[in-house]
Amino acid sequence: MAVKPGTAPKGRLLQPFAGQSLATPPIWLMRQAGRYLPEYRAVRAKAGGFLDLVYNPALAADVTLQPIRRYGFDAAILFSDILVVPDALGQPLRFAEGEGPLLEPIGDVKNLSRLRASATRPKFQLVAETVQRLRQDLPSETALIGFCGAPWTVATYMVEGKGSKDQAAARLWAYRDRDGFQKLIDLLVEVSIDYLTCQVEAGADVLQIFDTWAGSLPDDEFDRWVVEPTKAIVAAMKEKHPDVPIVGFPRGAGGAALWYVTETGVDGLGCDTAMPPYMMGEAFDGELRTFGPTGKEKIVIQGNLDPLLLVVGGPAMEERVTEILDLMAGKPFIFNLGHGIVPQTPPENVARLVELVRAWKAG
Ligand code: CP3
Repeated sequence: MAVKPGTAPKGRLLQPFAGQSLATPPIWLMRQAGRYLPEYRAVRAKAGGFLDLVYNPALAADVTLQPIRRYGFDAAILFSDILVVPDALGQPLRFAEGEGPLLEPIGDVKNLSRLRASATRPKFQLVAETVQRLRQDLPSETALIGFCGAPWTVATYMVEGKGSKDQAAARLWAYRDRDGFQKLIDLLVEVSIDYLTCQVEAGADVLQIFDTWAGSLPDDEFDRWVVEPTKAIVAAMKEKHPDVPIVGFPRGAGGAALWYVTETGVDGLGCDTAMPPYMMGEAFDGELRTFGPTGKEKIVIQGNLDPLLLVVGGPAMEERVTEILDLMAGKPFIFNLGHGIVPQTPPENVARLVELVRAWKAG
């Protein structure tokens, strides 16, 4: 059935955000479209490079739908990348085989003048077109998740020019020239709001902000570069689209996750693999949320099976899945992994995971 933007029946994924805990929680998985699926590898080979796939709305919509067809997840996540933002700004991105993303590093504040928020339109337009196609082709009960990288995480790639183990280049710049680094973060806040707005206006139902490297900062810097920019993005999106829930994923934040949730105003917390279940189950429940800016009583928890248990499968995976489900029973909860699916994951283990979650009932 074709569904017009904004008229889709909302489906199970949105219910926890309305404060409802379901007998069986909704499920989707980070990186659910990707190299572990043979049908993804086939389309990827046909497209050529990864970015040729991202900027081809027909193919990007097709790979977004692949895991929905195979597993019937409660949500599809737009197939794109957080590094589309620097690419669209004029810092060309490429993906070299086996090397991950490569950008020409932005050494200091002087290089920022080469980046233009006004240059992003054509590439964002292609992403919007993918979302529009998905809105038409997705089953009406499947929610569509749009996303961006958080400014801090995107900045780490822009400054380093590639992935790194400690994000040192960005951390050093931020310490040496706080005002200059703030300019980069401010630009990313502005452009991320544009990128998300474009996705919501094309039909995304829920948003997720990926802050993969939130855990590499001490508390004052975490506040400055993770909390404040995220808070600005959430505030701008809430002003334009108050009904679109936003999930934050401050990977590695540990104890600071509580501060992150109460300060940024996100509706949901994506928990990484290392977040202890007692924090997921208890610390975020009820009154602790009420001192934040929105004073919401409940925060939706999303997570957090170790992606490597999905590689292993069998009793080790099954035991942990049941543990997480039991712990989160009766709470507004979305089942997910603690980080993205890895390429060596056997697709049949994903099928078993979905079956387990769907068969479980709060007891
Ligand atoms: O299915 C989905 O999750 C939706 C699409 C999506 C991708 N990347 C596709 C992708 C999403 C939401 C992302 C987010 C992303 N991209 C993050 C944040 C989440 C996280 O995993 O921590 C980050 C840090 C990136 C940057 C990025 N993109 C890296 C470091 C890499 C190389 C590593 C790798 O896995 O190859 C990518 C490439 C990428 N993005 C792939 C996919 C499916 C693999 C590309 C391929 O086909 O070769």
